[in-house]
Amino acid sequence: MGFVDLSGVRYGLSDGTTLFDEVSFRVGEGAKVALIGANGAGKTTLLDIVTGALAPDAGTVSHSGGLGVMRQLVGMREGERPLRHLAVDLAPPPVRAVAARLALAEGRMGTGDGTEKEQLAYAQALADWGEAGGYEFDVLCDTVAVAILGRPWETVKDRPLRTLSGGEQKRFALQLLLQGRDEVLVLDEPDNFLDVPAKRELEQAIRDSDKSILFVSHDREVLANAASSIVTLEAGTTWTHGGGFATWHDARAGRHERFEELRRRWDEEHQKLRELMLMYKNKAAYNSDMASRYRAAQTRLQKFEEAGPPPAPPREQDIRVKLEGGRTGKRAVICEQLELEDLTFPFDLEVWYGDRVAVLGANGTGKSHFLRLLAQGGSDPESGLSGKRRLDPVRHSGVARLGARVYPGHFSQTHEHPEFDGRTLREILWEGD
Ligand SMILES: Nc1ncnc2c1ncn2[C@@H]1O[C@H](COP(=O)(O)OP(=O)(O)O)[C@@H](O)[C@H]1O
Ligand SMILES: [Mg+2]
Repeated sequence: MGFVDLSGVRYGLSDGTTLFDEVSFRVGEGAKVALIGANGAGKTTLLDIVTGALAPDAGTVSHSGGLGVMRQLVGMREGERPLRHLAVDLAPPPVRAVAARLALAEGRMGTGDGTEKEQLAYAQALADWGEAGGYEFDVLCDTVAVAILGRPWETVKDRPLRTLSGGEQKRFALQLLLQGRDEVLVLDEPDNFLDVPAKRELEQAIRDSDKSILFVSHDREVLANAASSIVTLEAGTTWTHGGGFATWHDARAGRHERFEELRRRWDEEHQKLRELMLMYKNKAAYNSDMASRYRAAQTRLQKFEEAGPPPAPPREQDIRVKLEGGRTGKRAVICEQLELEDLTFPFDLEVWYGDRVAVLGANGTGKSHFLRLLAQGGSDPESGLSGKRRLDPVRHSGVARLGARVYPGHFSQTHEHPEFDGRTLREILWEGD
């Protein structure tokens, strides 16, 4: 079984700031290691370094046993690509290398009447495909397609990715990696878009796998149920907790206390050296024999200060989400016999100002459709979001209505925002509602 080993890894952003430094940890054989850290801490960047997509500015990364990679936004924003492209992206490198050539040769055979040269190229590509393990890979794709989509590979491999739900894409990719040959898996937020049963399935699959797995997650339950040790990326470096998530908070608190203790000791030592220096300074003023001791004390203090204090413990994040509006006894959302076509039975709903309502349901039951309908202003397209952001219409019968002067804000699950392409963050915020 494979492993990953990082030693003294440093990476800086193009603006010159160091994202992280002195990152060292090991994903041992069969270990299930979670990488956690705040948004923007650099987890995805660090995984890119592990997989070789990015080169570190310092330090080394080594691994053995073949590396399978699932990116954070697997399949997102590439909705027109067929499922087989996603599969090939996740295939072992030899298969990946031949797949493109085989598709090309196949295409040429299909269009022309097949010159001898084209036929030979096709035959060669087929032979290489077999050599690289391509047929085994096809069998694996079929197994996974049947398990996740309930259909044989031949019937689904050309489906555009956008016709699969986010959860289906993730589960497909995961199963392909878990059942594949790579002995080390690197998974960036594999639990995104998964509903609760699929998350439980993921935890189980990670636990039961004999592969070495490094994964990023923000879900406490996934962390608690799947990770055997935890690497935390914070304050520009990582530290490793050799236990599960259940004991992580205590480990972190203990670590912070040790930092504070080290800092206290440093301050005390600093104070002592200063007092010593001042004492010799006084003595040296009327006893020239003391001059060399005074100089020595000065040098010691200077060296101590140059070495600097131990690192401060990372600041606690203090995030307050401010949702405005108190309870007023006015209705904000009214649904009467609302039926989302092919998704729900008719239902009634009232949401009052100040309510906080969670919409729960399995993947594919229509939660996003429902929210999108409300974001459009409900059944009455004249109310709701302005025309800047055009949302796909939601087919429905019955009524969904917003209360008087209710202007919906809409935050959607996926990162698909074609309308953001080519615009800077400033432009997007400036023109926002
Ligand atoms: N191409 C880039 N140019 C400038 N900054 C970047 C670039 N890519 C990533 N970053 C920044 O690097 C930081 C780490 O990003 P990322 O690794 O995606 O974090 P995480 O996965 O932990 O949320 C973020 O502050 C992000 O804005
Ligand atoms: Mg990330």
